[in-house]
Parts: sequence; structure tokens; C-alpha cells
Amino acid sequence: MKKVGLAMLGLGTIGSGVFKVLKENGDIIRAREGMDIEIKKILVRDKNKKRNVDVDKSILTDDPSEIINDEGIDIIAEFMGGENPAFTLIRDALRKGKSVVTANKEVIAKYWDELEEEAEKSGAGLYFEASVAGGIPIIKPLRRSLQANNIVKIMGIINGTTNYILTRMSEEGKSFEEALLEAQRLGYAEPDPTADIEGYDARYKLSILSTLCFRNRVTIDKIHCEGITRISPDDIRYAKELGYGIKLLAIAKKHDGKIEARVHPTFIPLSHPLTAVRDSYNAIFIQGDMVGDLMFYGRGAGDLPTASAIVSDIITAAQNGGTHHSVRLDEDKTVFEDNWKNEYYMRLVVLDKPGVLAEIAGIFGRHNVSLDSVMQKLRGNDNATIIFITHTACEKWIHDALDEIRRSPSVISVESMIRVER
Ligand code: NAP
Ligand code: HSE
Repeated sequence: MKKVGLAMLGLGTIGSGVFKVLKENGDIIRAREGMDIEIKKILVRDKNKKRNVDVDKSILTDDPSEIINDEGIDIIAEFMGGENPAFTLIRDALRKGKSVVTANKEVIAKYWDELEEEAEKSGAGLYFEASVAGGIPIIKPLRRSLQANNIVKIMGIINGTTNYILTRMSEEGKSFEEALLEAQRLGYAEPDPTADIEGYDARYKLSILSTLCFRNRVTIDKIHCEGITRISPDDIRYAKELGYGIKLLAIAKKHDGKIEARVHPTFIPLSHPLTAVRDSYNAIFIQGDMVGDLMFYGRGAGDLPTASAIVSDIITAAQNGGTHHSVRLDEDKTVFEDNWKNEYYMRLVVLDKPGVLAEIAGIFGRHNVSLDSVMQKLRGNDNATIIFITHTACEKWIHDALDEIRRSPSVISVESMIRVER
């Protein structure tokens, strides 16, 4: 029986999940994998805090050096979250030759190159399956099963909190605030929910996924990012009337030697498989030139699903010992596209008087934007809500048209612009 000395950095939602998985399924792991994983130390902020797992208090520490310098610890699993001290501790652990397993998408997205370099130098392994899409195996399949492909497209729901919020808003008419509180209570949301609702969490994950898929470094500054805070119950209602659902999608495509990557709320037809992905579930479509279309679906957040991915990485790290398998990136220089093509939904409040619709249609026309459908909803007080869906147009044409529309005295407000994927 191989003995594996493990230290955990964090004993919050995910740390407690890892503790439970190792306790409940420890026998299975010992029997099937031939290894005995012993939790030797756990780093926390507050050693006296009440824990929801039955942990021996003597292994809790608030001093990271006790872990980094402990020769009996082979693998360090990090789920404390945030950029620092998590990054420094992961780097120091790799320098000491200890393999690291992490659920920290922010650290991997921001410090990929530095950490890969440290791992290569020391030969310690770096594993981050749980950093994207919780319990869904996606990093390993991309690295170990799809090497024979050029991956050309990724499209997915990769944030459980926002998917939970949008599902509750759409199905139960809950307010954004009520649904967010519920997601936090269930442990899906990040300690600071801004990262979820503003799309930053999905952007970190898309940076990791698209770097792996395209074998080009897609840093977060190259990813357009919009969250769900401006999605109103009106948009959700009109989307349904038009036959669509609204989801926060992460989309990355590689075509003609260029990469486009973006996270934003998106209209998708009610018949699309992604519309059926509810609550905190995640789903990721991958399109490879040889394999065709693949879809990965499962729990994208939560203690036990995420712990399932982490414990798998711990087992792999123990099996690989001190061998680091680096991710080789392509040599070609990456070109990023920010003028992508889409169809668009727009909701405007305008003065309800003759000629306004023609004026707005004229502005769209001057900017090359062709309209697919127009719906007028009366609101009273001499105002009307008008909804436009366009044919395929370039992002820049839409922004230029909206800039001119906002300047028109007949337009009271541009309430929303949401991209449409069919
Ligand atoms: P959490 O509940 O806030 O837990 C964080 C833990 O880390 C706590 O035990 C805390 O100690 C400890 N900690 C934080 N900063 C520390 C510091 N400076 N020194 C010592 N200990 C520190 O967070 P979580 O939800 O488990 O998330 C952890 C990580 O997993 C994040 O990177 C997150 O993005 C990732 N993740 C989360 C989910 C999910 O569904 N929640 C899913 C996938 C990935 P105390 O307990 O003493 O305060
Ligand atoms: N806050 C994240 C989410 C946790 O809601 O998807 C999983 O990374």
C-alpha cells in the first residue's frame, strides 16, 4: 500500500467536501488504487472556528510554513481561494518539489506560465481539474483524450451560481437578489459573489479551457466579459415570448488563424440543449475537427462534486510521483478577434410618435445592420418599448448604431443589448 502524505490549504465548502470524500470513500481508494491518502495538516485562518466535519484539531494550522517545510507531505491541495497567498503558497510548494492540486481558477488563469515553469524545474506535478466546471471531467479529457484534434470551438455554461440565478428568475419569477442569496446559501457562489455575477469566474475558466483547447495562451485580458447584473425580468419575459432562454455563455472559437473569446449573457433557442441546463449544472460543448461535437454535462459547483475532481487529481498526482507533464503551447503567434459576428436582441424605450421606428430602422441600415424582427410593446406615458432582433452583424456595427441611436432625441433609453446564438 503506497502511503501518500497530503496537506490541505482550506477547510471551507470545498475543503470540507474533500475531507468527506476521503473519509467516506477512503476504503474504495485504498482497494482500487492501492494508496492510503493521509491528511497530515490543514491550513485555515481560524483554528477555533466550528467546522462541519469531524476533524482532529491537532492537524489544523494557521502557519503555512509548517506545511511547505514538512518533508512528510508529498501533495498539497489548495482550496483557500483568492489570488494571494494562494499563488505564493502554490509556487513555494512546487519549488519544494511537492505536487499541487488546486481548485483555484483565478491563480491558474493569471499565473499559468510561472507555475508551469516552476513545475517543470522541480518536476513536481500541477493539477487543476476542479478549477473548471466543478465535478465535470474536462481538463483531463482535453489533455489526455483529444490530442489528435484541432479544437475549433468551445461553448458552455461554466458558472453554476449565475446559471442557478437565471434558472430561478426564469422559472419562479424570483428577483436577482433573492436568487443570489439562495445560491450563496447552497455554497455555489464564490466568497465574494462579484466574481460570479460579473462573469469574472467564467472568464478565468474560459481562459484555462481555451488555452488548453487552442494550445495558445488566452489571457483574461483577451476575453470580452459581461455579467448578468443587468438582465431584467423584462428581458427574461420577452426572451420567452420570442422562443429563447437567457444563459451566461462562455464562447471561444478559432477560425482563419484568429481566436475570439467572450463571456456574456446570450439568447439561445428554447430547443437548444444548453437551455435545458438548469440550476447549478454546467455543460460544455467542444467541437474538434476529427471527433466532431462533444458535450460534457454535470455539477459545476458544490462541495462533493468539486471534491470528486480534486480527489481524482490527488490520486493522479500520487501515481505520477514527481513527473510533471507540461502543456505544450503552439509556436505560432496568436491573433485575437474582437469584431465577431452575431445576431443581436435590443430593447429600447422611445417616444411613441410617428416616424420614430423608421428613424431607428434607418440608423441600423446606415450601419449595415439588417433587422430580422421588430416588436412594439406599449408602455403608456407616450413611451413605447421596441424590441429588435437583427440578422448576423459585426459587433462594431452594432455598437456604432447604438451610439447614434442613444443620441436621437426620440430615444429615451437603450435598455439592453444581448447577443443571440442559434
Ligand atoms: P471558502 O468556503 O471561503 O473556504 C476557504 C477556506 O480557506 C476556509 O477554510 C478558510 O479558513 C481558508 N483560508 C482562506 N484564506 C486563508 C488564509 N489567508 N490563510 C489560511 N486559510 C485561509 O471557499 P470555497 O467555496 O471552499 O472555495 C475555495 C476554492 O475552491 C476557490 O478557489 C473557489 O474558486 C474554488 N471552487 C469552489 C467551488 C464551489 O462550489 N464553492 C467549486 C469549484 C472551485 P477559515 O475556515 O478558517 O476561514
Ligand atoms: N462559484 C463557482 C460557480 C464555483 O458558481 O460556478 C465553481 O467554480
